[in-house]
Amino acid sequence: MASHDRFRVFGGSPLRGEVTISGAKNSVLKLMAASLLATGKTTITNVPDIADVDIMADLLTRLGCTVIRSQSQVSIDVPQTPGHRADYDLVRKMRASINVLGPLVARVGEAEVALPGGDAIGSRGLDFHIKGLEALGAKAHIEHGYVVAEAPHGLTGAVIDLDFPSVGATENIMTAAVLAKGVTTIDNAAREPDLVDLGEFLISMGANIQGLGSPTITITGVNELKPTTHATIPDRIITGTWAFAAAMTRGDITIHGARAEHLELPLEKLASAGAIVTTTADGIRVRMDVRPQAIDVATLPYPGFPTDLLPMVIALNSIADGHSLVTENVFESRFMFVNELSRLGAQISVDGHHASIEGVPELSGAPVEAHDIRAGAGLILAALVSDGESTIDQAFHVDRGYPNFAEQLQSLGAKVTRE
Ligand code: EPU
Repeated sequence: MASHDRFRVFGGSPLRGEVTISGAKNSVLKLMAASLLATGKTTITNVPDIADVDIMADLLTRLGCTVIRSQSQVSIDVPQTPGHRADYDLVRKMRASINVLGPLVARVGEAEVALPGGDAIGSRGLDFHIKGLEALGAKAHIEHGYVVAEAPHGLTGAVIDLDFPSVGATENIMTAAVLAKGVTTIDNAAREPDLVDLGEFLISMGANIQGLGSPTITITGVNELKPTTHATIPDRIITGTWAFAAAMTRGDITIHGARAEHLELPLEKLASAGAIVTTTADGIRVRMDVRPQAIDVATLPYPGFPTDLLPMVIALNSIADGHSLVTENVFESRFMFVNELSRLGAQISVDGHHASIEGVPELSGAPVEAHDIRAGAGLILAALVSDGESTIDQAFHVDRGYPNFAEQLQSLGAKVTRE
C-alpha cells in the first residue's frame, strides 16, 4: 500500500462489458466489528478484497480475536473476554474503527478507542456517538486522543433522539443497545442499507430489533448473543460508480449482483441525464449513446442522493451539456477534489456547500491527486473522458474501497494501468 502508487489513464474509450459487485465496504466493516458481541466463531461471506478489511482484521486480532480470511470470506473467533483498547496506529487509518466502541462497551464494559482518521472530507464529530452511549448509562469522555467509555454495571435502554441521522452513531448505539437492559428507541435513525444489513446480522445473532430502514429503531436488549454466519450486501456505491462510468464514457455496462432498490435516486438522475437504465435478472444495465445532459443534485442521508457519489455526479456534469448545481449536505469539505478536477479543465465554482458546474465537451488529461476514496474514483472517471493521459496519485485511497479497480476497468476496455 505504497502512497506513491498511481493510476495512469488514457481517456477516450467507452466502457463496455460486465462487472460483478462485491460486498459493501461500509457494511462488512461494521459486521466485523459487531462480531465482538458474541463469544465464538462468526463467519461473514461476500467480503470484498479491499485494504480496509485488512485493517479491521488487524484491529480485531489485537483485541484478542482469531481472524482468518480466505477468498471472499472472513471468520472471526471472539474470545470470552476481548481486549478493550483500539490503538491509534490502526484506528487512524480508517473511520470505521470507531464501530468497535458500541460492541466493546456492551460486551466488556469498557472501551478505549483512538479518535479515528479516514478520509479528508471534513471534520467528523463523535458527539452523537458519545451522547448516545451516555444515554444508555455509560460514562464517556475524550482523553489523550482516545474515546474512553465505561459501563461496569452494564447498559440500560433509553430513548435517544439524534440531531442528524448519523450512520456511525446509529450503528454504535444499536450495537450497544442490543445487550442493554430494557428497551432503546433511536429516533431520527440512519436508514442506509448498510445499517439495515448490520441490524439483520444482529438479529441473526439473537438480537431483538424492530424498525430497521425506518427513522425509528426499537431495540429490546437480550442477555447474550450467539455467533452467526451472514452474507454482506452488495456495494451500492461501487454499483453507482459503474453506472456513472457507463453514462459518462457513452458505454454499456451490465452490473451483476447490483441492487437497484438501493440506488433509486442516482439511477433516476442518470436516466434524466439521458442514460438507458434497465434492470436485469441479477442486477442492472446502464447504457448511454449521447452526451449527458447536466443534472442538479443535492446529497442527503438515505434514501437521498448519497454523498459518496458526489464526485461521480460532479465528474459527469463536468462534461455534460448545460449548467448544473450540486449541493453537498452531509460533509463539509467534500468539494476539495474540485481543485483536482479543475486541473482536467472542468469549469466549476464552489460557494459554501454548492458547486456550480458549466459542462465542457471534453476534459484534458493532467496529473491529479486523490484525497479520499470516492474523490479518487471520481477523478478516474473524469480521466476516462479526458483527452490524452492523466495520472491519479495516492492510489491507495481508491484501494480502500474498490477491489481490483484497475483490472476491472481494463476488462471493460479502459486504458488504465496501475504503477
Ligand atoms: N456527525 C457529527 N457528530 C457525530 C457523528 C456525525 O457531527 O457524532 C456529522 C459528521 O461530521 C458528518 C455527518 O454527521 O457531517 C454524517 O456523518 P455520519 O456519521 O452519517 O457518517 P459516517 O458514519 O462517519 C458513513 C460512511 C461514509 C458515508 C457516510 C454517509 C462508513 C465507514 N463511512 O460515515 O462513507 O459517506 O456514512 O453516508 O460507513 C466512504 O465510504 O467513502 C465514506 C466516507
